[in-house]
Amino acid sequence: MFFGSIEYSGPGRDNLRPMKKLFIKTYGCQMNAYDSARMADLLAPLGYAGTETAADADMVILNTCHIRERAVEKVYSELGRLRKLKDRKAKSGHRMLVAVAGCTAQAEGEEILARVPMVDMVVGPQSYHRLPEMIARLARGSGERIEADFPALEKFDALPDAVSDTGVSAFLTVQEGCDKFCTFCVVPYTRGPEHSRPPEKILAEARMLAARGAREIILLGQNVNAYRGMDASGRSWPLARLIEAIAGIEDVLRIRYTTSHPRDMDDDLIEAHGGIGKLMPFLHLPVQSGSDSVLEAMNRQHTAADYRRLIGRIRERRPDIAFSSDFIVGFPGESDADFEATLQLVRDVGYAQCFSFKYSPRPGTPAAAARKQISESVKTARLDTLQKLLLAQQDAANLAIMDKTLDVLFEKPGRNADQIVGRTPYLNPVHVQAPMSLIGKVRPVRIEALTANSVKGSLA
Ligand code: 5AD
Ligand code: SF4
Repeated sequence: MFFGSIEYSGPGRDNLRPMKKLFIKTYGCQMNAYDSARMADLLAPLGYAGTETAADADMVILNTCHIRERAVEKVYSELGRLRKLKDRKAKSGHRMLVAVAGCTAQAEGEEILARVPMVDMVVGPQSYHRLPEMIARLARGSGERIEADFPALEKFDALPDAVSDTGVSAFLTVQEGCDKFCTFCVVPYTRGPEHSRPPEKILAEARMLAARGAREIILLGQNVNAYRGMDASGRSWPLARLIEAIAGIEDVLRIRYTTSHPRDMDDDLIEAHGGIGKLMPFLHLPVQSGSDSVLEAMNRQHTAADYRRLIGRIRERRPDIAFSSDFIVGFPGESDADFEATLQLVRDVGYAQCFSFKYSPRPGTPAAAARKQISESVKTARLDTLQKLLLAQQDAANLAIMDKTLDVLFEKPGRNADQIVGRTPYLNPVHVQAPMSLIGKVRPVRIEALTANSVKGSLA
């Protein structure tokens, strides 16, 4: 995802400084997308405006992911390309700063500087508010080039209000970090311990986003439903209460939240799916595996039966809800029977859309040291089988909305003239011939045709 073409020289900004160009390349999850926008906001007062390519940037930030080995490989190969670009620019007298941010920065700070010495700065996900300070230190030619603490409280207090264009659908981070320690996962190490932002701050940000044109707010957290924000009077708010308060903002038409852990789906939140109309009927609820022994080895802290019961309870409150999930195949010790249990769980639940991955051993996590690692060929075969089943379910979910009339929130112009694109409550992208003036509005749309990647409809 690129945040190249955002104009940051609006009112209240320091327009006296010469404009410098900033290119941010974002890898990984939605929280990284949110963080990239905040980094752009943070650097705007220093005179940095967004650009679309690294080639004409004065500063490049790679906002990285560390979740699987491939994510890390991508970062190093991009750094290889940037090194050449930086050399070429230096020869023509231009200095280009390169910063590595995000989870790979957190996990491999020193190693990045050792492997790619041209990198100027390394900044972890909880320390990026210190970027301006780091740039100043670099200009002086002195001081630390790595910031990788976990001062989560400090970060949000230090960040300026979001100024970047939010779009119709906007991310809002409410919670960060994870205390669950699933045995395969790096997140508790890269993002640090769970921390919830105070509800007042979140509500203020939501109002500000709505005032800037956001009509859908997607609440983000690594463990978003573990949200427990403390208000000024010392009361702790669960996520359901926060959603209810945001639903009270008139211009916010839709609310979503991601990513949830099955263990944290409390009664109030389940109830919210039945009672709060603005809360969309689509829930990403990762289960990872359908086998109890694998779930236990993963330290997921629930059984497959617990998960099935949970899905049943949510469906009771909101019968039309669509589910998505993440799955890992080839976790150490996963037998054919374990894998079959995963397939059975998928058949039983019926998902609208899922992400599935081969297990990738991550340095420092308990599962990476397990003896019974699964061979690459078995992982490949299992992933293939699972993905065929998931794809069939996705096709069925898409077919199920054919000829129906659904509310669509229009988000942006489509590729063809006169076409705009929006999403159904179930997240299907829909292309409709309609005027641009409908962007930011919800209209009933009759779903008429399915193409490979999208759905076509017409205003009802
Ligand atoms: N290997 C493969 N997939 C992983 N995920 C997290 N860690 C790993 C790993 N080591 C997947 C999980 C998680 C999603 C974001 O990434 O399914 O829910
Ligand atoms: Fe990783 Fe598990 Fe935490 Fe999710 S709940 S971020 S998978 S440790």
